[in-house]
Amino acid sequence: MKIYVPLDSAAKAVGADDVAEAIAKDAAARDLDVTVIRTGSRGMIWLEPLVEVETDAGRVGYGPVAVEDVPALLDGKLAGLGLVEDLDWMKGQTRLTFQRCGVIDPLDLADYEAHGGLAGLRRAIAMAPQEIVDEVTTSGLRGRGGAGFPTGIKWNTVLAAPASQKYIVCNADEGDSGTFADRMIMEGDPFTLIEGMVIAGLAVEATQGYVYLRSEYPDAIDIMEKAVGLAQRAGMLGADVLGSGRAFEMEIRVGAGAYVCGEETSLLNSLEGKRGVVRAKPPLPALEGFLGKPTVVNNVISLATVPVVLEKGAQHYADFGLGRSRGTIPIQIAGNVKYGGLYETAFGMPLGQLVDEVAGGTLSGRPVKAVQVGGPLGAYMPRAAFDTPFGYEEFDGQGGLIGHAGLVVFDDSADMRGMARFAMEFCAVESCGKCTPCRIGAVRGVETIDRIAAGEAGAVELLEDLCETMKDGSLCALGGFTPYPVMSALRAFPEEFLPAEEAAE
Ligand code: NAI
Ligand code: SF4
Repeated sequence: MKIYVPLDSAAKAVGADDVAEAIAKDAAARDLDVTVIRTGSRGMIWLEPLVEVETDAGRVGYGPVAVEDVPALLDGKLAGLGLVEDLDWMKGQTRLTFQRCGVIDPLDLADYEAHGGLAGLRRAIAMAPQEIVDEVTTSGLRGRGGAGFPTGIKWNTVLAAPASQKYIVCNADEGDSGTFADRMIMEGDPFTLIEGMVIAGLAVEATQGYVYLRSEYPDAIDIMEKAVGLAQRAGMLGADVLGSGRAFEMEIRVGAGAYVCGEETSLLNSLEGKRGVVRAKPPLPALEGFLGKPTVVNNVISLATVPVVLEKGAQHYADFGLGRSRGTIPIQIAGNVKYGGLYETAFGMPLGQLVDEVAGGTLSGRPVKAVQVGGPLGAYMPRAAFDTPFGYEEFDGQGGLIGHAGLVVFDDSADMRGMARFAMEFCAVESCGKCTPCRIGAVRGVETIDRIAAGEAGAVELLEDLCETMKDGSLCALGGFTPYPVMSALRAFPEEFLPAEEAAE
């Protein structure tokens, strides 16, 4: 009998390792023929550790499982959740990027291949570089790090740039609050990221790749390093990728904890061993990136989606979605919710449906006040904006952004002026210091919000002016996007920015 236990760090944080060990020990003591297989997470974090037992009908889920539940599990007396694939959370999704996450052993290349892995790479090997780029362009895939720039167009710029050496750099510096999709895919299906990077290399004629991975993700670092070693031994990486006669090597590089190193140019500086300070653009990294050479810098999810685009075809991917937001998006649901986790769905689901139905509303049982979408630089969306479909342009039209697709839900006890202050404080702490609107503006922003709190007349207007300056004058998204949470809180909840006596009236 096969029993699956996640090795994902969210599951480990609530005891998955102990449960896996208890199952193995108890089964051995009873002389049962049990194989414990560690997988990634299915994304239902409230059920972790979610243990799955293989049956003729499929995998039956049990969760959350504690060590004390193990004897009953092996006796067949523990109440189950039914077939995992039939759970509402799973049935409602369209899993393309995350199709194997939680299903396979992340470090078993044969398991990966048995579940559709390497099909995309094999197809890419038979194609010319321009054909691969065109396929990705046709799929409509856009940068999942937040900016939503069309991946195929970025690749085209790199392919067209003449150079003796080109690079693929994967941005795995997932620093946004409420986001964990990059971590989950690296821990649960690392070969899909490696495969995506190899395909990107073939497409733009780059032979070297780097994953810039944040130090706060030790499990992801460990799994990715092991996966790269296995891929090298299996010929998926190296001088002759799967016998194609084309080369691609890659390495994992660990960051040092600065939020701004998620910005592509400071990431490149850090990767080159320099201080993580933002570079002015132009030149674009696509033309002068790592060590001054043409470089594709893509987020983990963008690259990890490329294999399924090649495997199933661009049109299959493009058939999902809404408007210019094509395909699926792995949405990460966090904060004050009943059901938090990863939910991959086609673009277009209204925000309210995600919060009220998928996430089941607040855990506190109080009304939802606002959802911050897109990390600490994302806008607070009030209930009035809940009919906004999940899409790049649709959120932009509401003064927001989907960013890396993280939702953090707040109930009616949230202090929105305090949240606005936190955004400015965060920017002040994380600013790289290169430009004045961000370096000085964020500090003045904290002070101005304190002046509002003290009831100073005109301080709200001053805050609005400051936000305009930061938005228009900052060199990168950190200073440029900090006004989003601040201004959205101010617009949606103006009464919280009134002097105390007026607010009480
Ligand atoms: P951007 O709009 O300047 O650029 C987007 C991407 O397209 C970049 O990689 C840029 O080099 C590339 N690009 C633009 N024109 C190109 C061309 N003609 N050819 C080839 N490549 C081209 O946005 P930026 O500053 O890279 O990112 C801002 C976004 O990052 C924000 O929307 C924010 O949501 C997101 N963000 C994400 C974070 C995370 O942790 N994932 C953290 C902070 C911000
Ligand atoms: Fe650095 Fe902030 Fe300017 Fe970005 S906006 S370059 S983080 S100072």
